Order: sequence, then C-alpha cells, then structure tokens
Amino acid sequence: MNHTVTAFDGLAEQKDLHFGLEPAAMKLRHVVESQQFTLPLLMELFGRSRGMERIVARGGSLDYQQRIMAMLFYAPSTRTRFSFEAAMHRLGGRVLSTEQAHAFSSEVEGEQVEDSIRIISGYADVIVIRHHEEDGARRAATVSAVPVINAGDGKGGQHPTQALLDLYTIYRMRPLDGLSVAFIGELDQGRTVRSLAYLLAKFERIRIFFVSPPEMQMKPDILDYLDRHNVRYEVESDLNRVVGEVDVVYQTRIHPARVANQPILRNYAIDSSVLPRMKPDAMILHPLPRTVELDKTVDSDPRALYFRQATNGLYVRMALLTMLLEQ
Ligand code: CP
Repeated sequence: MNHTVTAFDGLAEQKDLHFGLEPAAMKLRHVVESQQFTLPLLMELFGRSRGMERIVARGGSLDYQQRIMAMLFYAPSTRTRFSFEAAMHRLGGRVLSTEQAHAFSSEVEGEQVEDSIRIISGYADVIVIRHHEEDGARRAATVSAVPVINAGDGKGGQHPTQALLDLYTIYRMRPLDGLSVAFIGELDQGRTVRSLAYLLAKFERIRIFFVSPPEMQMKPDILDYLDRHNVRYEVESDLNRVVGEVDVVYQTRIHPARVANQPILRNYAIDSSVLPRMKPDAMILHPLPRTVELDKTVDSDPRALYFRQATNGLYVRMALLTMLLEQ
C-alpha cells in the first residue's frame, strides 16, 4: 500500500524523541498487552497522535481508503468502539463491525474465536477485538494473518489502547518522569489500571498508590512487575491519605454489588468535597463509563480531563492504526 506523508505530520515534529532508532526498527505486529510498548514506540505513537490532532482538525485524510478494519466486540463498549471506527473513517478507511459478537457472530453456533479470526483476517487489514475472556485477544493474534488490537479482554485482563490514550493525555500536560499517580477503585478487575501500570513502569521516578477496599486490591502479578522494575508503589485503603500528594487521580468504577459494606463506597468517590484537597495542578482521569464514584459536580473543575481523555482516544487510535497498517 502506498500512503502519503500527511498522516505522519507529528512524526517529523517528534523526530528528536526517536532515541536514534529508525522507524523501521520499531514495528508493531499485534497490540495485545501494554508491555509491548518500548519508550521509542511510545514516543513514535505520541508524535503521530499530535499529527492526528491536526489531521482531524482539517476533517481527516484519505490515506487509508483502500484499507478495511474489522471490529469484533464480544462485550459492550461506547468509547473504544466509536473511537476506533471514527479513527478509521478519519483516515479514509472502511469498517466492518459486529458490536454484539456473542449474539450475532457464529460464536452462537459454537465457533471458537480462532476460527472466526482466521476467516475475518481474510477480509480485513486489521482486526480490533474486545473479548469476554482474558486470553481472547492473544488467542486471536496467534492465528491472525493481519494485525490484531486488544480492545479490552476479560474482567482482569488488559486494555492497552486505553492505557496509551491515558498516558498521552498526561504527556500532553506534563513530563512523564517523576509522576505520582493514585489508582482508585476496583483494581483487581481494572484492566485499564493494569495496562497503565505496565506503561508507567517504563518511566523514571514514578510513584504509584493503589487505593481500594482491601478485597479489590491490585493483583500480585502487577505488584511483582513493579518490584522487578524498581517502581515505588504503596497499597492503600484510605483515599484521604494520598489525594493531596499525587499529580494524577485516576478514578475507576466500583461495582456496588461487589461491596458488602455499601457506605464504604463513599470513601472512594471523587466529589466536590475532595477537590480542595487535591494539588492545584493535578489531573483527574477516568476511563469511563462512570457511576457514583465520580460526581458530576467535578466536571466543571479545570483539573477534570476525562472528556478530553476520551477525545484523545481518537487521535491515539488513528496513530496506532497507521503504525500497524504501514507494514
Ligand atoms: N473506556 C472504555 O473502554 O470505555 P468503553 O467500554 O465505552 O469502550
């Protein structure tokens, strides 16, 4: 495929961040887990994402008009599905989509994901999959003839493209080295938190606080990874002890049905009473959707970045598609 240079405006701007590696040395085949992203790959992605902001402002490009993206979603989604579809349309490409693959694909007849992917990879140039099992995206990538992107797998798997857009949102505001982050919520099943923790471990002087009811704390695999990479972290059950110390308050959902002591949910909510205790230049992120853990009164606070975060998903996913499709 012959693509013009317009989709890569941001890359030239960020050339100094390539760490001496040629782009050809930084190819991605599939995106299954966030650990795959090296610092040079992240910086290439972020450079391209800046370029995509300008391309979207111009209305998009036609560079990928001969390319097809297949969307195979076995679990519900608003942001991930729409932003991937918008990303491909803004690049000029086309989209095949099944948003309820558990009901409207041949899985109903007992077809395994491997067979579905073998078939679909003959029709499309890239496949985006949200699978209800933790290993679904990896199984898909193993057999696919075209790049596979994990759009969230299982309850406690990963959501690497969410973590990429989360990190890009922070990167647009401040340097990533030296960052302190509080992850709040249902961390044992928090695939976005898991993916972002892996990415943060690639930067210097990171400090992480995992804040949740004890029965929902971050699983040992992530804590072991952080230990191995010398990342400072604390496991905390009291939000009050950390909310004034951190640069990023990363809020996530807690499903009320999982909490026996319902009033305790209030201790993990961000509302107008928490805002005065946060740093004046802190950032409030949330992958969304939200329920009671993030009050709407927070929306007007200049530190609330979660809607911009969702918009950044468009730019980052456009950039990622270009990186995968240019191979
Ligand atoms: N953040 C996120 O993954 O949202 P959706 O479930 O709406 O895609």
